[in-house]
Amino acid sequence: MSRARKKKKLFVKTWGCQMNEYDSDRLLEVMGEIGFEESAEMNDADVIVLNTCHIREKAAEKVYSELGRIKQVRNARLQEGHDTTIVVAGCVAQAEGREILARAPLVNIVIGPQSYHRLADYVFSAQQHKQRIVDTDFPADLKFEHLPQRSGRKLTAFLTVQEGCDKFCTFCVVPYTRGGEYSRPADEIITEARELVAGGTREITLLGQNVNAWHGKGKKGAPRNLAGLLEQLAGIDGLARIRYVTSHPNDMSDDLINAHRDIDRLMPYLHLPFQSGSDRILKAMNRNHDVEKYIDIIEKVRDARPDIALSTDIIVGFPGETDADFEDTMKLVDRVKYAQAFSFKYSARPGTTAAKMEGQVEPHVASERLQRLQEVLKEQQLEFNRHLVGRELPVLLEKPGRLAQQLVGRSPYLQPVHVMAPAHLIGEIVTVKIVETTRNSLAGELVPHVETGKSRTLV
Ligand code: SAH
Ligand code: SF4
Ligand code: F3S
Repeated sequence: MSRARKKKKLFVKTWGCQMNEYDSDRLLEVMGEIGFEESAEMNDADVIVLNTCHIREKAAEKVYSELGRIKQVRNARLQEGHDTTIVVAGCVAQAEGREILARAPLVNIVIGPQSYHRLADYVFSAQQHKQRIVDTDFPADLKFEHLPQRSGRKLTAFLTVQEGCDKFCTFCVVPYTRGGEYSRPADEIITEARELVAGGTREITLLGQNVNAWHGKGKKGAPRNLAGLLEQLAGIDGLARIRYVTSHPNDMSDDLINAHRDIDRLMPYLHLPFQSGSDRILKAMNRNHDVEKYIDIIEKVRDARPDIALSTDIIVGFPGETDADFEDTMKLVDRVKYAQAFSFKYSARPGTTAAKMEGQVEPHVASERLQRLQEVLKEQQLEFNRHLVGRELPVLLEKPGRLAQQLVGRSPYLQPVHVMAPAHLIGEIVTVKIVETTRNSLAGELVPHVETGKSRTLV
């Protein structure tokens, strides 16, 4: 299929979660089919895509300030006789749809996350017929059926297995921007994983807004839940590491917990958001779990895999949150001890139930709480990293570091690891003795033994 006469350029800017990063890769593949190649520069791009996030107010506002900058780029290109097609994709596109066209007249196409397989056609229509297009259709099944094969050579890749959410936490826009929960069929996922591995991928992170709610369609012998899917993926030759994100406590089955004990290639890392340590607030958030249930899961997970690195999401300043509620959050953090955590000030989102609740917390109170929480979380992260000093860890080397002859990889626990090593080891899993740590990364020395056999080198 070749409508393009010469290679045209596409620039994609991505905000938000890992699913948006995955989607941006897929958009590049869709456009690659009609002869577009990726550009690192907005200035020489024929098409600019903003892949947006709507989760908090600041995230959504960034799009409009970026459009201001793009206007200048577009005008400069126009003076040189080049047209630029401007696309707003992602969760802001889904949430605001047509409003974007009214607020930003330079935008040509608004496309929601479930319509990406149609982007090439829309770009063609926008360029040839000067149409302005809005597509915010659901559901996701058509998209996955029509997206092209995976291409590219990435050592570590994301793979969406589940999209959307039916849980309707009262603060969250995701059920509105990504639609209802949809699980991709297992065979489609396995095929995509094989394509990635054939292209050189050694680590895959399965993605879903509620990835552990993934369920199979019940063909005989086919995996029925995420644990079964992980087991099948672990059988793919050449795939060394598997991760998954984000999980919801209510879908954390015993099978999945036991997978952390039984599947070597499943990395010892679990991101399990709890949002608040107060049962009262959890109720108002419509989380449908309480603190006790969360702790129970954490204990089971630690029994199954004692060294597991735990991560979470926390919101402070949810409407009605008192000092005592916040102290409960601090207590839960202190009890669990996290290797990593993401914490946010509550942001009222249009259309959500919580935005209309009484007792919105003063911004300065929320800021103070966030600061206190983040100090403890930073300390815990450092503590987790410190306990790895002196240990020998398998590290998947991914890319050159900032120093000459330095490479950077990832530990099983997801921290970046810096090590002096020759470039030909990129793509290998090597053993590194950890000698130093900061909050965000580890540094170590190469232990002179390369795990070969299963490993392949990409350079
Ligand atoms: N699907 C995932 C997370 C989705 S959004 C889950 O259920 O855990 C990522 C994180 O953003 C959430 O876990 C939550 O902590 C945060 N978040 C979502 N909506 C928010 C809001 N309105 N204000 C502040 N933080 C929010
Ligand atoms: Fe949002 Fe809750 Fe769904 Fe997560 S589970 S995506 S926080 S509604
Ligand atoms: Fe943002 Fe949409 Fe992801 S709102 S966090 S890009 S699902």
